[in-house]
Amino acid sequence: MRAFRITGNDLTSALDLLHVHAELLGVVEEDCAITVWLETDLPMLDRHLVKIEELPFEIANATATGLENDRAILVACDLLVRPPWVASEPAFHGIELVVPRGMAFGSGEHASTQAALLVLHSVWRPVASLIDVGTGSGILACYAAVRGCAQIGACDIELAAVQAARELLPHAEVALGGPESLSFVADLVVANMTGTELGAALPAIFSRWNRRAPLVLSGMRPHEVIGIESRVVGEVVARERIGDFCAFAVQSVSF
Ligand SMILES: C[S@@+](CC[C@H](N)C(=O)[O-])C[C@H]1O[C@@H](n2cnc3c(N)ncnc32)[C@H](O)[C@@H]1O
Repeated sequence: MRAFRITGNDLTSALDLLHVHAELLGVVEEDCAITVWLETDLPMLDRHLVKIEELPFEIANATATGLENDRAILVACDLLVRPPWVASEPAFHGIELVVPRGMAFGSGEHASTQAALLVLHSVWRPVASLIDVGTGSGILACYAAVRGCAQIGACDIELAAVQAARELLPHAEVALGGPESLSFVADLVVANMTGTELGAALPAIFSRWNRRAPLVLSGMRPHEVIGIESRVVGEVVARERIGDFCAFAVQSVSF
């Protein structure tokens, strides 16, 4: 395959011409350049208007996708996260979360996600419903789905996250917005956000939690934990710190 980078003033007309006179196998359009891939030489273009540079063979035929180095992430000895393009590990018999690494936060690599997963995993018991606030890719809600939770809600203020979570969890209610956007109240609520975001969202998080199962909060820096913890009534039943990120779970004493 050959690749040509074309720069100049009238790139739109050049591309129109190429579409008519050549079989383009690929096109990348940038602000001031287009790069085209084809099996043959480039058809005649008005070289007064555009400058053409053929790219070296190795670049024209590069096959790297950026996904080659992805690996499964062992969060606990019985809990693993991997993207769909990484094969499952035959010797692993624990809980597997298959989550693509895409535009939304939450592929399992970040310490705050791992802290949240570890706390959720340690306090887990069968619950009828779970809400994941700040769902990102949907990874924490995915944990609940894999554990058989029937009613799952998730929300995020970013559209890319909502789209990713809807794709990952087609049976869940996934809302664009804060916890108040969800239509039900859940037994277990989990939220992995920065300390500041958690602080701001806490009243809405409480309003979606019926307190039958723990509330799991993650994403705080160590110095932020005390301020958040002091606002949650109940007994702390699990804690985790991964790197600079902390998570804890609170169980309401009335249940
Ligand atoms: C650190 S990411 C966590 C993603 C995923 N849950 C995980 O554990 O990897 C935090 C997410 O919270 C979202 N977020 C921040 N404030 C929010 C709010 N008030 N309501 C809903 N989502 C919020 C952000 O858009 C972001 O996607």
